[in-house]
Amino acid sequence: MNARQTMTAAATAMLWCACSPMVSTPDAGSTDDFTAVDQALAKTFSPLPAVPPDTTNAWADNPAAAVLGQRLYFDASYSGALAVGSDGMNGGLGAVGERGKVACVSCHGSASGDDNRTRPNHVSLGTDFGTRNALPIVNSAFNVWTNWGGRFDSQWSLPLAVAENARIMKSTRLEVAHLLFDKYRADYDAIFPVPLDAALSATAPDAARFPPAGKPKATAADADGPWEQMAPADRAIVNRIFVNYGKALAAYTRKHVSRGAPFDRFVEGDTSALSASAKRGFKVFTGKGACATCHKGPTFSDDAFHAIGVPQTGDKVPATDLGRFTDVVPLLASPFNSNGDFSDDKSTGKLTGVAQSAAQLGAFRTRSLRNLTTSAPYMHSGQLKTLEDVVEFYDKGTGAVPDGGTLAPGIAPLGLTTAEKADLVEFLKSLEGAPIDAALLQNTAR
Ligand code: HEC
Ligand code: HEC
Repeated sequence: MNARQTMTAAATAMLWCACSPMVSTPDAGSTDDFTAVDQALAKTFSPLPAVPPDTTNAWADNPAAAVLGQRLYFDASYSGALAVGSDGMNGGLGAVGERGKVACVSCHGSASGDDNRTRPNHVSLGTDFGTRNALPIVNSAFNVWTNWGGRFDSQWSLPLAVAENARIMKSTRLEVAHLLFDKYRADYDAIFPVPLDAALSATAPDAARFPPAGKPKATAADADGPWEQMAPADRAIVNRIFVNYGKALAAYTRKHVSRGAPFDRFVEGDTSALSASAKRGFKVFTGKGACATCHKGPTFSDDAFHAIGVPQTGDKVPATDLGRFTDVVPLLASPFNSNGDFSDDKSTGKLTGVAQSAAQLGAFRTRSLRNLTTSAPYMHSGQLKTLEDVVEFYDKGTGAVPDGGTLAPGIAPLGLTTAEKADLVEFLKSLEGAPIDAALLQNTAR
């Protein structure tokens, strides 16, 4: 236990000293006494509160937007040509060159909305191999920053980059606008203020004004494409439709909330909800393991970025990933961030003072630890296969950070015993919440 934790424990003990220690039914011979101090500490991790509002998305809690978002989540028809030929089948998605094969659900299909395919099991595979492990959708609306490196400051801006990323869905914003016009016009018009008919055309979008495909060129040196040749006013129309696509998807993903894990039930007073081992594991988590210095509060995350030094190893894992250091640049430059014209609330102040710094080299967002048993493998590129591997990694306490980076102070050898490691894993497993509403997992694409 470090000095800060000792102080916290002492302060908590002072609050609770009038009460008699709460001793739960111990397994015969085990030392799993859960004192009032432990109980008070446990309450800082549970229950999971209401999903925080997203004022930058006026449709975040609009039920019709969530219904449209669900349809879009399962729709692969607007994705581009598959690129990976090693097995001739792009990891089972389809033959190389085939289009319309990748949907959000392709990489977010497990019970927790994580990638449940066996291949490649390190980085995700869409139209091509990506560089990172897919994140679970469940409870992701609690995250202050979206993605491992905090590349986004809202959930609605993420799908915009995902749709156009050549390694993920390889689509374009013009294709998204046409998709909405062709298949989801009634859904869209019932939600957003400017109907698609009025925005694009009464019958079919005029192909000269709105080409079938196109997105902004990647670099200034690239040749102008169909997007650059459009009238600025028409580009603005398409951008607005594209943003609304993201806002509908976010209204849907926000609903993936899982509560009532065994640990939550234990904190509520059900003393039988946790095994003796998991209870001991909680004490390792908050004590000798020092995990709670970063994994704190009901989401088990401080919403900050730390370089814990997980090595860049594994199938298709890039040799370097600078994490927050790289991701903060496009976040600040994005027209779709919380300060931009498409944000429904520019007063959040979220990006105030945010800038690139050396401290961000190799730093990734502290992951929530809820629903881990349905989201293996672990870490930003899926480098660690099991929770046992994760605990071994922290116990060793050595990591590799990029040149110029600094290993987070909390990462140091822990000296855990075999029993403590097993208890810690049991505790992590007790954070698996109830499955999300099954209706959310129905493919409702048109
Ligand atoms: C090819 C696989 C793939 C597809 C397709 C895909 N994602 Fe993801 N998703 C990922 C990966 C990988 C990450 C983490 C990326 C990173 O940190 O760089 C991620 C991250 C996310 C997150 C962030 C969760 C968090 O904890 O911050 C959300 C939300 C999300 N995706 C939603 C979507 C939606 C909506 C779509 C469809 C428009 C989609 N994804 C399509 C692989 C995919
Ligand atoms: C210095 C802050 C810090 C400390 C201390 C810390 N973690 Fe983490 N944890 C992180 C960060 C940051 C990540 C994401 C790192 C990455 O992907 O490279 C993470 C990721 C994880 C993951 C992977 C989750 C997933 O979905 O992939 C698990 C499990 C985990 N930590 C458990 C623990 C345990 C158990 C301890 C204590 C032994 C601990 N952590 C201590 C910051 C910390």
